[in-house]
Order: sequence, then C-alpha cells, then structure tokens
Amino acid sequence: MDLNLDALWMPFTANRDFKRSPRLLSKAQGMHYWTPEGRQVLDATSGLWCVNAGHARPRIVEAIARQAAEMDYAPPFQMGHPLAFELADRLLHIAPAGLDRVFFTNSGSESVDTALKIALAFQRVRGEPQRTRLIGRERGYHGVNIGGTALGGIGGNRKLFGSALSGVDHLRHTHDLARNAFSRGQPAHGAEFADDLERLIALHDASTIAAVIVEPMAGSTGALMPPQGYLQRLRQLCDQHGILLIFDEVITGFGRLGAPFAAQHYGVIPDLMTTAKGLTNGCVPMGAVFVKRELHDAFMQGPPTAIELPHGYTYSGHPLACAAALATLDTHAEEGLLTRATELHPAMEAAMHSLAGLPHVIDVRNTGLVGAVEFAPREGAPGRRAFEVFLACWEAGVLVRATGDTIAISPPLIVSEAQLQHIADTLRTAITQVA
Ligand SMILES: Cc1ncc(COP(=O)(O)O)c(C=O)c1O
Repeated sequence: MDLNLDALWMPFTANRDFKRSPRLLSKAQGMHYWTPEGRQVLDATSGLWCVNAGHARPRIVEAIARQAAEMDYAPPFQMGHPLAFELADRLLHIAPAGLDRVFFTNSGSESVDTALKIALAFQRVRGEPQRTRLIGRERGYHGVNIGGTALGGIGGNRKLFGSALSGVDHLRHTHDLARNAFSRGQPAHGAEFADDLERLIALHDASTIAAVIVEPMAGSTGALMPPQGYLQRLRQLCDQHGILLIFDEVITGFGRLGAPFAAQHYGVIPDLMTTAKGLTNGCVPMGAVFVKRELHDAFMQGPPTAIELPHGYTYSGHPLACAAALATLDTHAEEGLLTRATELHPAMEAAMHSLAGLPHVIDVRNTGLVGAVEFAPREGAPGRRAFEVFLACWEAGVLVRATGDTIAISPPLIVSEAQLQHIADTLRTAITQVA
C-alpha cells in the first residue's frame, strides 16, 4: 500500500518507530480485523476496549446509514431530537439503580471532565462551594482532557502538562503483587487501601473535597481488579464525609465484567458514572454520564427559563451516535451480551491462568472478559518485554494490548471458548519466544 505516513501525528504512539514498520488495519467483521494485504487478525482487545458486540454488526451498520440519510445533525442546545430522549430513557433499563439522569458527550475523556464539572457545580448549588478538591488514584486513567489528565495517576501522562489542574490529590493504587499475585477475580487483600482516603481527609479536611473518581477496575494500567471490600469501603467513607463518588466505567461499562456495569457487578453504586466506548460499540464517538436523580434535581431550581448547567458539546447526543447506540442496545439484548462475560468467565480464567509459570510472568489476573499477564520488567527497558509479546502476537495474527509490562486481553463479548483458547495459545508461544 502506497501511503505517505508523515502528515499524521498519531495519538499515544511511538510515531517514528511505527512509521518505520507500520501496523495497519483496513477491514473488520465479527471477531476479526484484516490488514490491507488481506491478513486476518483475531481481535482480542475489542478494538480499544470498545467494540463489545463485535465488528460490523448489521443492525448497527444499518441504523447509522439510515440515520445519516434521515437527519444528519440537529443542534442540542435549546433544541432536541427524539433519538436522544429515546436513548437516555432506554439506557435506564440497564443503568444501576438511582443513576437515572443521563448527559451525553462524545468520548470517555469528555465524560470524565463533564462528571467532574457536575460534581463541582453540585457542591456549589447545594451550598458547599468550598468543596473544590478532586481526588483520583495512582495508576488511574481518566482520559486526556485537563480534568482527566490531572486526576489520572500515570506519571508519564501528566508530566508534560505541568500540574494541569491545581487542587487535586491521589489515593494510593491497589496493586499488591506481594499478597495478591495470580488472583482469580477480586484479590483477597487490600480493602484497607480505601482508608487512604482518610489520610487525604486528615490532610485537606473533608469540607474541601468535592469528589473522588476511580475506575472500579483500572483498565488502562493493566487491568487491576479491586480488592474484595475495597469499593464498599470507599463508598462508605465518601458517604460519611459528604464526598461524591464517581466511577469511571468507560472500559467496564456495557458488559465487560458480566453485568451491564461494574457498579452492579461489584454491588456498589456511585453518585456519578462515566461511560463511552461500548455505548455505540465503538462505531460513532459517544459518551454518557449517568447521574443520581438527587444531584440532577439540585440544579432544577431558580427561574425555569434559566439554563441550569452551562455545559455541553456541539455533538452531545449526535443523531448518528444515538442511532448507533440504540442499535447496539438492541444487539446486546437480542444476544444476551451484557451478561455473557459471566458465562465465559471460567473459560477465560482457565485460558489466562494456563500462562502462569512461563518465563518472566509475575502475575496473571482475570475477571469477566478481562485478562492480564504481567512480566518482570527487562533490565533498563521497562515495558519492552510486553511490547515484544504484543508484536509477536500481531505477527501470529492476534491483536492484544501492551500497557507497561502487562498484556491485557479484552475480546468482544461474542468470543467463543475456542477463540479464548487460541488467544492463550498464541500468547504462550509469544511469551516463550520473547523470553
Ligand atoms: C477509564 C477510562 N476513562 C476515560 C477514558 C478516555 O476515553 P476516550 O479515549 O474515549 O476519551 C478511557 C480510555 O481508555 C478509560 O479507559
């Protein structure tokens, strides 16, 4: 393929390395991608944790095409269109109890910054304007807008951008290989890591803290499962101190763990929940922030002609995105996809843990349709070992994701048990080869 690769500055990519040896995808269907040369690649990552129902699902493809012809765009400020209302209402059928108001965005990053703004504004409208501090967690990823960058806990993502936002702090992360290596599902140890919030409360005083944001399962830094009891404890501390709890479910939303959302899977309901990715099956950019009714209602005061929340995007509730999301929800319902990860959990667990004992493997962990293999870092070259495993899998026709020294697996929810086994077999060969 004769392409000039120079003009495009690629996101989160080693541009020079990539352009020396590009990895291109040009077609997708079901569980597979194809390269421009026609090589088939099994998608073990749902694209980027987003194509939960598999690629090019006919209902979704048709809905987008139909909507593009029917009405391409409608302004969302002081105007509306039926699909946005229909979608918000339909989402309540699967939403965690009480999170029954929905605000549309166009990405996970926008969902995060929207949730942070709603949290800050809520504290103000309820008469606690001094609550301006926001708390994230080490090894968290909340996208790339200013709020999400500041609240995220990945040093490399923050350092180029200064402090990005002042008045933020971070809980300690929950990754504890000394006690929890090779856990299946939720690790047994570490509920007490939630008490780190008390340290921050002692330091800053609860009266200055607006909200805590965490991923219920931290996806981007290598699939870190919450220790048993951790999220419950965090919820309890937030309640005790009048602090809002935000779950960033951009990865965990829409069936990844075996329930529609991690909030239901873990039995802990946040005050706000950010989503994107699987909402439209990755087909059209869209995000949604789910908000507790009480928070929403606190804004519905004052003159009814006044705009209650001065926030929104030109493409909030875009007609094509709404059509894609509604068709995605239909596909999920018809095929029982939002709970399928529960059925496949044992097969996924067996496939992943068959990799324990291979050279340099220091951890294997799994939950629902998420699996991770962590390697001991190569001397002086952190992340290289996982990246080489990723390359070896790519050459062998399986797309996995390298993040730090971890390989993460998150196949579409339509994956078969045989394909899970094939992914593990490919990983085994790659890990042995790279060792
Ligand atoms: C938990 C979480 N939050 C936010 C984001 C950002 O989403 P986006 O890339 O759609 O802006 C991601 C992306 O991976 C994510 O995993």
